[in-house]
Amino acid sequence: MVIVTLILAFLFLFQTGFSVVDKFDKFQSISDGTTLISKDGSFELGFFSPGNSTNRYVGIWYKNIPVRTVFWVANRCSPINDSSGLLTINNTGNLELLYQNKSVVWSTSSSKQATKPIVQLLDSGNLVLRDEEDGNSETYLWQSFDYPSDTTMPGMKLGWNLRTGLKQRVSAWRNWDDPCPGDFTAGVEYDPLRHTFPDIYILQGTTKYFRTGPWNGIRFSGTPEQRPNPLYSYDFVYNDDEVYFTFNLKNKSVITILVMNQTTSHRDRLTWNEEDQAWQIYYSAPKDNCDRMCAE
Ligand SMILES: *[C@@H]1O[C@H](CO)[C@@H](O)[C@H](O)[C@H]1NC(C)=O
Ligand SMILES: *[C@@H]1O[C@H](CO)[C@@H](O)[C@H](O)[C@H]1NC(C)=O
Ligand SMILES: *[C@@H]1O[C@H](CO)[C@@H](O)[C@H](O)[C@H]1NC(C)=O
Ligand SMILES: *[C@@H]1O[C@H](CO)[C@@H](O)[C@H](O)[C@H]1NC(C)=O
Ligand SMILES: *[C@@H]1O[C@H](CO)[C@@H](O)[C@H](O)[C@H]1NC(C)=O
Ligand SMILES: *[C@@H]1O[C@H](CO)[C@@H](O)[C@H](O)[C@H]1NC(C)=O
Repeated sequence: MVIVTLILAFLFLFQTGFSVVDKFDKFQSISDGTTLISKDGSFELGFFSPGNSTNRYVGIWYKNIPVRTVFWVANRCSPINDSSGLLTINNTGNLELLYQNKSVVWSTSSSKQATKPIVQLLDSGNLVLRDEEDGNSETYLWQSFDYPSDTTMPGMKLGWNLRTGLKQRVSAWRNWDDPCPGDFTAGVEYDPLRHTFPDIYILQGTTKYFRTGPWNGIRFSGTPEQRPNPLYSYDFVYNDDEVYFTFNLKNKSVITILVMNQTTSHRDRLTWNEEDQAWQIYYSAPKDNCDRMCAE
């Protein structure tokens, strides 16, 4: 008991002794080996090498899960082959990933000029670029949640912004060593001219491989996502501006995500099991509703 108390006290001192950095500005940068940590300590951004690869990528993962789970990758198809990577904000307020401090490997494309651009990793896991001069801290010049990798996080959209044309889609990693998009993509389908009911689909290459069946205003005709559950609430929004699916946690201490899987071709809802210290499949689409709508 005494030992546990001592350890806890030590951890507390250790944690408060170092201030957590969740943002940086034009005069700072993130180099390979340093990280950003969200204020509440849940998420971390940094450089990593996937699987057996030695390539370096910038990604965001859960800080408190022992199984490294990278849910977002910046330079998905443009790896860096040494540790010279540097994430910076350039003079026109865009986030840039530099190789050997000169070539741009990856960048954001915000057209708005910011007076005092800063990059911040939020408690939701969203990496945002915003203007510190702008009083509204929720106006983003760019946000990683608009450019998903293979994972849909709570509060993230899978959808289509009809005003800007931006489509928030997920695509599986090619394999464990390579986060570049593989064969499978999931997104939202909607015909704004005919006002058809929106639909979630999975593509294999350019071929439609699975669809949920149209949203009827209350639910999809057959997706397991809709089953009553204690973990998350589910929302489908469609209006003149945008069409999207999103989910939010009912219980903030539950960790659940949706991942597009290249190996199985399923989009899995995973939940973190604290006891087993492992991810568990809560359900898997289309596997769990194949009998009804695997093929069109
Ligand atoms: C890495 O390579 C080893 C040996 O080839 C293999 O056994 C292991 O499964 C690989 N790990 C991953 C994550 O691909
Ligand atoms: C690393 O990448 C750079 C730029 O793509 C390339 O010129 C260089 O040859 C690569 N180095 C190695 C050791 O692969
Ligand atoms: C900043 O980065 C963006 C994206 O790479 C680029 O279009 C723009 O020209 C850069 N601005 C400067 C001043 O380098
Ligand atoms: C990168 O280059 C700029 C100017 O080209 C220099 O001011 C800066 O110190 C360099 N940063 C690193 C980490 O080498
Ligand atoms: C929230 O989830 C945690 C962990 O699964 C559980 O211990 C707790 O009872 C849940 N709280 C509510 C209000 O359901
Ligand atoms: C995909 O599914 C396989 C088999 O269930 C699993 O081993 C692997 O971890 C999954 N990949 C991802 C990215 O979840």
